[in-house]
Amino acid sequence: MGKLSEKMWSALNEQVKYEMESWYLYLGMAAWLNDQAFPGFAHWMRIQAGEEMQHAQKIYKYIEGRDNKVELLPLAAPPKTWTNVEDVIEKSLAHEQVVTGLINKLVDIAAEEKDHATSVFLQWFVTEQVEEEETFRTVLDQIKLVKPTCSAMLYLDKHMAKRGE
Ligand code: FEO
Repeated sequence: MGKLSEKMWSALNEQVKYEMESWYLYLGMAAWLNDQAFPGFAHWMRIQAGEEMQHAQKIYKYIEGRDNKVELLPLAAPPKTWTNVEDVIEKSLAHEQVVTGLINKLVDIAAEEKDHATSVFLQWFVTEQVEEEETFRTVLDQIKLVKPTCSAMLYLDKHMAKRGE
């Protein structure tokens, strides 16, 4: 099998950073949501952050599995504040769409480099991105439905608290 090409290594190594930045962003959102008295949404977002950490670790282990070294890069700090819950979810969906583009780029590089093992490895992420975008889109649709009343938002917050690990 052999080591990753320089180009493939560099792109995967950077993706570890992007997934860690997703973790950092969602954790920042969880902190803000908790501060805004939406503990259910905060819980939901912390679980999402945990998933991003798992994505980063999956790629980290794959790089090592191909006998390459991981080089951790500096993370960008997330924003400190958002307009409202809808804004948080809207920004999250936009973020996931950017990540989908990054995954697609990795798939393109794997094809260019004729790296079949990496192509297969990345298929999990391609499928995962469809799921991630759908998850955020569903939450956004629900918020848009209930937005007119505060009591409905509190009901939705209780529903978000039920997300399992
Ligand atoms: Fe790791 Fe939400 O993409």
